[in-house]
Order: sequence, then C-alpha cells, then structure tokens
Amino acid sequence: MPNQLESLKKHSLVVADSGDIDAVARWKPQDATTNPSLLLASAQDARYRPLLDADLDRMAVNFGREILKHVAGRVSTEVDARLSFDTEASLAKARKFISLYEKNGVSRDRVLIKLASTWEGIRAAGQLEREGIHCNMTLLFSFAQAVACADAGVTLISPFVGRIYDWYKAAKKVDDIPLEEDPGVASVVRIYNYYKRHGYKTQVMGASFRKTGQILNLAGCDLLTIAPDLLLKLSDTPGEVERRLSPEKAPDVKKMQLDEKSFRWEHNEDAMATEKLAEGIRKFDADARKLEKVIASLASASTPIAASR
Ligand code: E4P
Repeated sequence: MPNQLESLKKHSLVVADSGDIDAVARWKPQDATTNPSLLLASAQDARYRPLLDADLDRMAVNFGREILKHVAGRVSTEVDARLSFDTEASLAKARKFISLYEKNGVSRDRVLIKLASTWEGIRAAGQLEREGIHCNMTLLFSFAQAVACADAGVTLISPFVGRIYDWYKAAKKVDDIPLEEDPGVASVVRIYNYYKRHGYKTQVMGASFRKTGQILNLAGCDLLTIAPDLLLKLSDTPGEVERRLSPEKAPDVKKMQLDEKSFRWEHNEDAMATEKLAEGIRKFDADARKLEKVIASLASASTPIAASR
C-alpha cells in the first residue's frame, strides 16, 4: 500500500512550504514556497550563514536560488509586507527580484513573486503578469480576494486554511473544529469550484495547514504547499487518498463582478478575513524587521555576512 503522500501526489502537485533548504532537498517537491517568517527561521540556522546578505532582497534571492537546486519547478519569493498598499513600490520590488534572479542565470519562469492579496497587491500582480512575471497571491482569506485575483489574471493564489481555522477556533472558544465543518477547508473548496466552473486559468494552491486531515480533504486541488512536519506525517501514514476536488464536480455558481469599491466592501464584510489579512501583514513585516536585526547583530559580532552590493 502506498503512503498518503505518494497517493496525494496522484491528485495534486505537492509543494514544500519551507525556507529550510535541507528539508526541501529531502522532500524533492516540484515547487517550493517561502515567506518572511520562514526566512527568519532559516537565517538563524548556522547551516545557511553563507546565504545571509545585508540586503534582504538579495538574501531572499540567495535562498531562492539555493532552493531551486533541489526543485524542478518554481520557487516563490515574497515582496516586503511594508509595500502591501503600494502598487508602484510592489512593482519595483518584484522587478528587482526578477532582475537579481536573471542576472544569476535563473529564468523568470522558475520564480513566483508572492504579494499580499490587497487591492494594491492584486493590481501590481495583474501588471506583472502582463510583463511575463508570474505571481503567487498570498494572505488570501476572503472569497472577494480570490475573485479579484482571478479577474486580474494571476498565475496562482494561496488561500490560507490554517489561519482561517485558527480564527474560528478562537472565536468559538473550542480546541478543534471537525474537518467536515472546517471553515479553512470550505474556503478553498468554494474558491476551487468557482474558478473551475467559470474556466479561470488561475491555479489554486491550498496553504497554511495545521493537520493532515485538512490537506487530505483538499486532494485534487491544483497544488498544496505543505510544511516539512506534515509532509513527514503523510509519508509515515500508509493509505490511499481519495480525490475530493475535481473540475467536473464543481457546482453551478453565479459569477461575481467586482470593482475596487465592491471588492473593499465584500472583503470588509468578512470579519475573519479583514482581521487575518491585517494581522498577516503586521506579522510578516515584524519578522522582516527582526531579520534585519539578526543580520545586523551577526555583522557586528564580525561573523562574515555578505555585504550589500
Ligand atoms: C505559504 O505560502 C504560506 O506563507 C504558509 O503556508 C503560511 O503558513 P502558516 O499559516 O503556518 O504561517
């Protein structure tokens, strides 16, 4: 009998959600994703000291290039959360990342630029896609965010499962929510069905998982990005995984038309999404600032850190 990870791979493309290069090498996924919090953890690991750089953009690309040595597909590199409400600055940052990758011989097809799914981030992504720069829209909690991303023609979205589950657990004051009522899983199912029913090309990559059941209940989703501890649990558990999502099963659903005002209104109507998007931006920003401090303190302790060039 196969293990759950092997079986899951027949239904969905499995991606490693980690800045730990050795973990990515171990799991040999097709693609890999990072975020500012994952990079902060890896930057404090002595194994990755040679990748540190006083310029955080260069450092993110150093990690991305190293990860690409172990994946056949793409790596996601995230735009600074401080730019989440600035389309022009997000565009400049994304173009800088792509230029750094291309100067180092990495083609833009192997990179996904990760941007927060704010109205401004989505506008930046639409423009980047027209320039042949592919985007992965992150911090995605509401249906309105998903609709706006697809309408902008982005390559991929990362709807968060675990952070939605966390919010509802806290709101309901419970220790767990059963899978059949899991609002994070339900959010991805709704988005997947809407995209498939209306023929959108944008791919859905479930992200932010807290337990393997959430992953297994989304078998069939285009991609699933999974942290190493959950990859291990799946590979340690024998079993066939049943496909849950498929384009043919997507029920009929009315198409939503959103402009900026209606996007902001619809997103604001969802208390969970409003809070989690704002909190996610604050936390990614806080971790990027911590990362700057870690690098500065290593540099002042005369530990060799690549200088900004
Ligand atoms: C990946 O793209 C996301 O950044 C990641 O899955 C978030 O996971 P978390 O909610 O466990 O931080």
